[in-house]
Amino acid sequence: MPSSRRDFLHQSTHLAAGLGLSATLPELGRSVAPSDTIRIGLIGVNNMGWADLTSMLKNAGAVCVALCDVDSNVLKKRSDELEKQTGKKVTLYNDFRKLIDDKTVDAVIVGTPDHWHCLPAVYACQAGKDVYVEKPLATTIEECDLIVAAAKRYNRIVQVGQWQRSGPHWKAALDYVQSGKIGRVRSVKTWAFMNYGKEFPPRPNEPVPAGVDYDMWLGPAPGRPFNRNRFHGTFRYYWDYAGGLMTDWGAHMIDIALWGMNVTAPNSVVATGGKFGFPDQDGDTPDTMQVVYDYGNFSILWEQSLGTMRGPYDRDHGVAFIGNLGTVVIDRSKWEVLPEVEQGRYLVPAQPIQYGSGRDLDSHTRNFLECIRSRQQPNCPAEVGRNVALHSHLGNIAYRTGKKLTWHNDQGGIVGDTSAQALTKAHYRAPWVLPKLS
Ligand SMILES: NC(=O)c1ccc[n+]([C@@H]2O[C@H](COP(=O)([O-])OP(=O)(O)OC[C@H]3O[C@@H](n4cnc5c(N)ncnc54)[C@H](O)[C@@H]3O)[C@@H](O)[C@H]2O)c1
Repeated sequence: MPSSRRDFLHQSTHLAAGLGLSATLPELGRSVAPSDTIRIGLIGVNNMGWADLTSMLKNAGAVCVALCDVDSNVLKKRSDELEKQTGKKVTLYNDFRKLIDDKTVDAVIVGTPDHWHCLPAVYACQAGKDVYVEKPLATTIEECDLIVAAAKRYNRIVQVGQWQRSGPHWKAALDYVQSGKIGRVRSVKTWAFMNYGKEFPPRPNEPVPAGVDYDMWLGPAPGRPFNRNRFHGTFRYYWDYAGGLMTDWGAHMIDIALWGMNVTAPNSVVATGGKFGFPDQDGDTPDTMQVVYDYGNFSILWEQSLGTMRGPYDRDHGVAFIGNLGTVVIDRSKWEVLPEVEQGRYLVPAQPIQYGSGRDLDSHTRNFLECIRSRQQPNCPAEVGRNVALHSHLGNIAYRTGKKLTWHNDQGGIVGDTSAQALTKAHYRAPWVLPKLS
C-alpha cells in the first residue's frame, strides 16, 4: 500500500493520465478482518478465471460481487451461471478499470490472456486490492518485475496460479529429492507433450463478433484485424499475446524444477525447435522445442511437443529429478522413485507410487483466501511467478534469436545482446503504458 494517502493519490492520478482517463481515484481496499467476508471480482471469465472463482467460492466467507469481460456473450453466460449457483446477481463490467474502482471489491482474480495480466494486476495493487493472477505472470520479464515491485510497494497479497505449489504430493516428492536419498542431482527434465494443436489451420480475418470490445481485448498488444484463431483459448500460440507451450505448461513444470533445486535464475540458456510436426498449422510458437538451462553444476531440460502425448517416462507432462542413485518422477496425479540398479540391487529402496488428491487448485485458492486474512505470504507469491516466467521467456527468446543467452540478474538481464534484451521489454500499443509505481 502507498505509504500515505497523498502518495496514493499521486500514483492514481499518474496512472489515469497514462491511460488518457479522467483522474477518478479508486478507494483503498479495506483490510479484511480474520473472520470477515472476502468480496471477489473476476476479470476474464471464460475459462481458467471461472475455474479459479468457482474454486474460491467453495470457501466460507468468499463471495463474488463483480464480473468483468470484454466479450459480453461470455459475461452473460457466466453471470447467469453464477446467479443460478448462488441466487444472487453481481455487478457486471466490460472495462476492468471500473471493477478495480469498485469499492465493494476486496480481491481481484486476473483470468485474462497473458498480455492482459500486468496492467490489471498492478492497478489492482495500486487500488489496495489483493490479487490472484494467472500464470505465466506476464508476457515479458519487464512486466513480471513490475508486478513483483507493485506487490511489495503496496503491500498486497499476490498469489500466482501455479497451483502445484499448494499440492501435498508435489511437496512430498520434493522433500524426498531434497533429503538426498537419490544422491547428487545432476539434471532435471521437465516436459509437456500435449495431444492438441494439430487441427489448427489458418483462417480468414472476420468482422468482430457482436458484443465483443475487440480494441479492449487487444489492449497493449499490436493492432490487427479480428481473427478467431487468435481469440479465446488459442491466443496462446501467438507471440503478441503469449508464448505457446513454453509459457503455458512450462510455467507449471519448470516451476517444480526450480522449487526442487532451490534456484531462481539460470546462467545461460540455449534452445532449438520449430513447427516441425505440423508446419502448415497457424500460430507463431513452435510445436517442437528443447531448451537447456545451465546452473553451473546441474542443468534443467524443457521439452515440448504439440500434437503428440508420448512424453518421457510415458507421461504427457512431468518433472524428473535425475540423481546418481535414482530418479524421482512427478506429474499432476502421482510421484514415484525409479532406483538405479547395481549388481542386481536397488541403490534406493523401492516404494509404492504416491498419488495426489486431485484437489490442488482448491488448496491453492484456499491458501490465497487464508493469506488475505492472515497477511502472510501465499504459497506462490509474485517473485515465484516471476522466476519461472523468466525461464519461460528466456527459453522463447533463445529460440527466437537462435542464440545462446547469458543471464545476469544483477547486470540488467541478458548480457551482451541488445536484440535479445529488447525482447525482455514491454512494447505497449498506445494509449497503454507501463505504470510508474512512485
Ligand atoms: N493455472 C492453470 O492451470 C491455467 C490453466 C489454463 C489457463 N491458465 C491461464 O489463464 C489465463 C486465461 O486463459 P484461458 O484459457 O482462460 O483464456 P480464455 O481466452 O478462454 O479466457 C480469457 C477471457 O478473458 C477475456 N478478456 C480478454 N481481455 C480482457 C480484458 N481487457 N478485460 C476483461 N476480460 C478480458 C476474454 O474475453 C476471455 O473471456 C491465461 O493466462 C492462461 O495461461 C492457467
